[in-house]
Amino acid sequence: MILKFKIFRFDPVKDEKPYYQNFEIEAGASDRLLDCLNRIRWEQDPTLAFRMSCGHGICGSDGMRINGKSALACQKLVKDFKEDEEILIEPLQVFRVVRDLVVDMDPFFEKYNSIKPYLITKAHAPERERLQSVEEHRKYEDAIRCILCACCTASCPVNQEIEAFIGPAALVRAFRYLFDSRDEGNQERIALLDHEDGAWGCKTKWRCTRVCPKEIPVTKEIFEIKKCILESKKSKK
Ligand code: SF4
Ligand code: FES
Repeated sequence: MILKFKIFRFDPVKDEKPYYQNFEIEAGASDRLLDCLNRIRWEQDPTLAFRMSCGHGICGSDGMRINGKSALACQKLVKDFKEDEEILIEPLQVFRVVRDLVVDMDPFFEKYNSIKPYLITKAHAPERERLQSVEEHRKYEDAIRCILCACCTASCPVNQEIEAFIGPAALVRAFRYLFDSRDEGNQERIALLDHEDGAWGCKTKWRCTRVCPKEIPVTKEIFEIKKCILESKKSKK
């Protein structure tokens, strides 16, 4: 089938402003949109810029807006689009466009790093591994699936308005450590999250949950962080 694409283009070095360019490509039903973008780049316009690496929903690098919704191009199948439909491809919202579909991810990773995304332990390391039961592991196993694609943060109406808001992806990573029985850094992390640009910035709009390609219950996990902050304050009284 022939697929029609309308793709956002912008090279700040030579373009005064962004524009859209149309492409047509023959694709098979089992092709992914990422295959189509690669073929456009290889066969029609080698200047088209976008990120990709694994091609299989693992690396999180090909987040973009497809028909207005944040998604991974490698997880969208051609068969789910109509032949006469024009597929609109744009960069993720919220982030500065570096070129075409490539956005500046530095602010995203700065926020991610701000929550101390690693196991904090105070006691001496045991001789062997730190043990954890299956039940303890289950508490945060959904959050482990996060591939840091930034689709949630780009779709968040709060992030679209307020630059300083830490955003859902960093909160999912905070959840992952707050609910890890081996971690001893809860008080440090709670202090980092207990403010209006931290966990309380979330206004429960659910867009993050709807777009997450890994089906992580993002909004629910942010709600659990808020509960954890309140419980920690209560226990100090
Ligand atoms: Fe991507 Fe989901 Fe992780 Fe957000 S929570 S960065 S949408 S995988
Ligand atoms: Fe790696 Fe899509 S290319 S997640």
